Amino acid sequence: MLRTLVVYDSKYGSTEETARQLALILGPARSVRVDQFVSDPGKFELVILGGPIYKGVISPAIWNFVRDNLDWLKGRHVALFCTCLSQEDGEVNLERIRSVIGPSVLLQRTLGGRMLIEKLDGKDLLGMESFCKRKGYAFQDIDTLAREDVVNLGLAIKQVRDSLSRPMAKADLLSLIESFLASHTTCTLASGHGCRVRATPIEYSYRKGSLYLLSEGGEKFAHILLNEQVSVAVYDPYQSMSEVAGLQISGKAALVSSSEPDFWEVLRWKGLSRERISSLPISLNLIRIRIERAELLYARLKARGEEISQTLIFEHGDEAQA
Ligand SMILES: Cc1cc2nc3c(=O)[nH]c(=O)nc-3n(C[C@H](O)[C@H](O)[C@H](O)COP(=O)(O)O)c2cc1C
Repeated sequence: MLRTLVVYDSKYGSTEETARQLALILGPARSVRVDQFVSDPGKFELVILGGPIYKGVISPAIWNFVRDNLDWLKGRHVALFCTCLSQEDGEVNLERIRSVIGPSVLLQRTLGGRMLIEKLDGKDLLGMESFCKRKGYAFQDIDTLAREDVVNLGLAIKQVRDSLSRPMAKADLLSLIESFLASHTTCTLASGHGCRVRATPIEYSYRKGSLYLLSEGGEKFAHILLNEQVSVAVYDPYQSMSEVAGLQISGKAALVSSSEPDFWEVLRWKGLSRERISSLPISLNLIRIRIERAELLYARLKARGEEISQTLIFEHGDEAQA
């Protein structure tokens, strides 16, 4: 997995908070204030640079960092962000940095900013007043830095980063994932809607890109009825980092009715006859999860010269994958 270094500058803390949140999402990662950066961190393949905009320009310390480290930055993957109150100021500044670093910049994004009047020192108070006058903003506390935007940026960078890893051949990865699923019986199903989330340990069966879960009912159905998107984890108990093995699946859940052939087929795999099911005093419900994405973390891949973290996108309708 590529490692990420987040280098930031911040005067009143909003860029620092953003840098730390990005490092959380992009881990394995570290965030470091630009004045504490010491030398070329050869251990990081992805570098995120972020700074606030003051008086129309991004923090000079970020510019100095770019100038002093340009040679190695050009050979890494880079993402840029800034925090500010004027989208236009942000975009102009990020574009300037991108044009200096060049094509190693994969992504750049302007985020909102935060300005709390009581926290500003005397000089910034005056500077802020004239900034607000110039832009036509009311001179009052402003907070346009939305956590959701930071999270979305983190996920967007993660998606680009994951596409940079050297992938295994698709057929080999599918067969590894299928044998991993076949060698386990129980998963953790995560379902949710609104503020409610639930993790459910449950037995599963796998077939042709889908997981099938048989259940008498319960709270997970409250979520699935309102939100079909679910996540499933299947994993070995931890023993050591060199044996780590786990699968994280995202997919869509649906109820399979007893009029569908899948319903009786799954019951047959489980050795349950129609007679036995009909004799039960309660109904059995079948959930089918069509897998959309499977992320495998499998330490043993290292010995095969492969990256230990691999992602497979399932395309349904392409049932040759089964
Ligand atoms: C004195 C002062 C000048 C500012 N000038 C600008 C500006 O020119 N353009 C802009 O978009 N935001 C401007 N801002 C807003 C900051 O970019 C924003 O508050 C940012 O979130 C601060 O980051 P920090 O908390 O990491 O220091 C200014 C803020 C202050 C206090």
